[in-house]
Amino acid sequence: MTDHLTVVDHPLVQHKLTLMREERTSTAVFRQLLREISQLLAYEVTRSLPMDTKTIATPMKEMEAPVLAGRKLALVSILRAGNGLLDGMLELIPSARVGFVGLYRDEETLKPVQYYFKVPDNLSERLVIAVDPMLATGNSSAAAIDLLKEAGATNIRFLCLLAAPEGVARMKEAHPDVPIVTAALDSHLNEKGYIVPGLGDAGDRMFGTK
Ligand code: URA
Repeated sequence: MTDHLTVVDHPLVQHKLTLMREERTSTAVFRQLLREISQLLAYEVTRSLPMDTKTIATPMKEMEAPVLAGRKLALVSILRAGNGLLDGMLELIPSARVGFVGLYRDEETLKPVQYYFKVPDNLSERLVIAVDPMLATGNSSAAAIDLLKEAGATNIRFLCLLAAPEGVARMKEAHPDVPIVTAALDSHLNEKGYIVPGLGDAGDRMFGTK
């Protein structure tokens, strides 16, 4: 994967995203759509994984069949909203290792504050896919990637549902080596750091909090 930003314009992704954006969509439906869309995005973010072959026997004959190469990949959820993307991805990649980075956004400064960090071992030998639905200012995403690099990760991809141009620019400046995959690139951030038109607070919408 070489492009810094990939917008997944698949019709199913775009249709599901529209339903998720709608204010009147219920928590249950929002969560289900996020699960479905995360699998479609997972398909894209894993598109260029290195492959190997192994010898298997079909009922007909032996063959050299393709398999994923190397160590199990690591999915890292940026709490708490990242968990919404994580669940669906794990259904598709059940043997992935899982990590969590806990960052909350100080609503005054919009700066990230760390409260939890637990990741799989041998991070340097794994593809690490960091997931967070909303790439807004990019401050918490860039901080999460800093922590993953400090823990040894060298091959990182970032998966989100929506991105703001400000967040993409921040990530490109801080981590030009980390490709971003998203379902849409929205217009801008408002004065509170929310993506416009966006979908509101992703965590609140998936967990039914306010
Ligand atoms: N986080 C969200 O949940 N929504 C936004 O629009 C921005 C950050």
